[in-house]
Amino acid sequence: MSEKIQMLFSEKEVDRRINQIASEISEKYQGKELHLVCVLKGGVFFMCELAKRISVPVTMDFMALSSYGNSTESSGYITMKKELDESIEGKHVLIVEDIVDSGRTLKYLSAELNRRNPASLELCTLLDKPERRVTEIKADYTCFEIPDKFVVGYGLDYAQKYRNLPYIGIIEP
Ligand code: IMP
Ligand code: MG
Repeated sequence: MSEKIQMLFSEKEVDRRINQIASEISEKYQGKELHLVCVLKGGVFFMCELAKRISVPVTMDFMALSSYGNSTESSGYITMKKELDESIEGKHVLIVEDIVDSGRTLKYLSAELNRRNPASLELCTLLDKPERRVTEIKADYTCFEIPDKFVVGYGLDYAQKYRNLPYIGIIEP
């Protein structure tokens, strides 16, 4: 079975937007160190590109969550599948996500990480589908708001495929 993918943001457009967000973040954290927390696996391409463009000192850690559901819809039930390696206590933490959809993942994650007493906690996402929100959560930095379509590429998958596309596209299964 093959799926059709229609380009939504080219590699160049994504690159340009990440540059802008990275300067905003660099300005905001002037004189501080920033601890990036990537949500695997989708956030990994975005986090690497973002990290390369941030001018304040950066450290990185990774975590994985599992949310039960099918390949295009997450359920409300979220658990931690891979813990962070390091403590975030006293650190300026920035969560880096691929996409905020229902908002359940980020809601769970920000509550969980806030409990660990970071010096500050902000959220950064490559994509946001505001129409789909079921919880009240808003990222502090969003590269692109998109309509309610299923997208792949730049880390985002459909049944684990297409993460390596260098652009973001809408998939029609
Ligand atoms: P939320 O908890 O509903 O906000 O779901 C967030 C997670 O669902 C993301 O981190 C993605 O892994 C996945 N997801 C939501 N929409 C898409 C999409 O359009 N393409 C690929 N993955 C998606
Ligand atoms: Mg994800």
